[in-house]
Amino acid sequence: MQTPGTIIGNRYKVLRLLGQGGMSNIYICQDINMYYKSCAVKEFAALYADPKEQATALQHFQREGELLKSLSHRNIPAYYDFFQDNGRYYLAMEYIQGDDLGKTLEKAGGPLPELDVADWGMQCAKVLYYLHCHKPDPIIFRDVKPSNIIIVQGVVKLIDFGIARLFSSAKRGDTMRIGSPGYAPPEQYQGKTDQRSDIFALGMTLRHALTGKDPTLEPNPFIVQKIPILTDNPNVSPELAAIVEKAIRLLPEERYQNMRDLKCDLSDFLESKCAGRGRTTPSLNPALGAAAITAAQTAVAAPVSAVPQVPPTIPVAAPMLQTGPIPSQPPAPTQAYPAASPSPVPAPAPKPAPAAPPRLRPRRPRLRP
Ligand SMILES: Nc1ncnc2c1ncn2[C@@H]1O[C@H](COP(=O)(O)OP(=O)(O)O)[C@@H](O)[C@H]1O
Ligand SMILES: [Mg+2]
Repeated sequence: MQTPGTIIGNRYKVLRLLGQGGMSNIYICQDINMYYKSCAVKEFAALYADPKEQATALQHFQREGELLKSLSHRNIPAYYDFFQDNGRYYLAMEYIQGDDLGKTLEKAGGPLPELDVADWGMQCAKVLYYLHCHKPDPIIFRDVKPSNIIIVQGVVKLIDFGIARLFSSAKRGDTMRIGSPGYAPPEQYQGKTDQRSDIFALGMTLRHALTGKDPTLEPNPFIVQKIPILTDNPNVSPELAAIVEKAIRLLPEERYQNMRDLKCDLSDFLESKCAGRGRTTPSLNPALGAAAITAAQTAVAAPVSAVPQVPPTIPVAAPMLQTGPIPSQPPAPTQAYPAASPSPVPAPAPKPAPAAPPRLRPRRPRLRP
């Protein structure tokens, strides 16, 4: 782990640790070649006894860099650099100043406002749809969960492409069965994923946010999914509960079949709720914004040792619909950010350029239960 003040890659001055997972350490750094602009630098830190596993983990890290480099979307951090220093590998990217959803949920200690949740869900569905429309092969993110979603003044940023993979329908299975218990769908435990797997994980993330009930704390991740959302939080609108429950059906063929349909239903729900209220930006919740700012100010001054461990994405080797206990994960990390400065590389295009998916349908009929 790097200490504050260390210069890595002859260019990035470490300010402090932002987060730490099983495979990586993430630092907030200043780019001394770019007017000390803030950036996030992810250090590959996996240590496997088995050289084969070590090589695969490194491959995933390198692929994360390649994927990020190839993508341009307002809801994905911009890629800056991939380099080696002292035998270690690093990925430098846009620093996102805001709380991740895991931290926001931890602070709230209960359900979050449903209009905010629906809006974040809609933005996630939009960016995941962009990935699923990637050419020549769709990108399946495979690790949608609260700690991989950062919210900056109501705008969602999807981070951590560590286990995202290019989907090829000709390929029979994933090479490594990985994911995050609690959010990963049953088929991911069998090493099979497609776009509907991301739909399940996004649904479980939204369910967590709407109920405050952390699925990783349940001994069996597929029990929570069966409990009606209104049982866990009767204040959730039944229409929104129905949308999320459709996303988290155990059988992929019973879920939404694509992100566009999920996005449209969330958008219709928001429109119907916001109509006549004069509310156009449901995600700008002033209370959450204030909490994030306070956290940022506190954490900027926090020592490196005060940063908790990021719950890692762990290998999933359990059978489908496992009945035994699945290890729960530690609490999500604390992280907050100082003010960001202008970008050292050309800012990502506001709209995905040539490879952009077709425009999302603006309107569609209401969700049929
Ligand atoms: N670009 C970024 N800007 C700000 N914080 C980040 C950034 N990338 C990661 N983080 C923080 O570090 C944590 C761990 O990063 P992540 O990429 O998810 O690593 P891991 O692969 O170990 O899960 C995230 O939950 C987030 O809080
Ligand atoms: Mg992560």
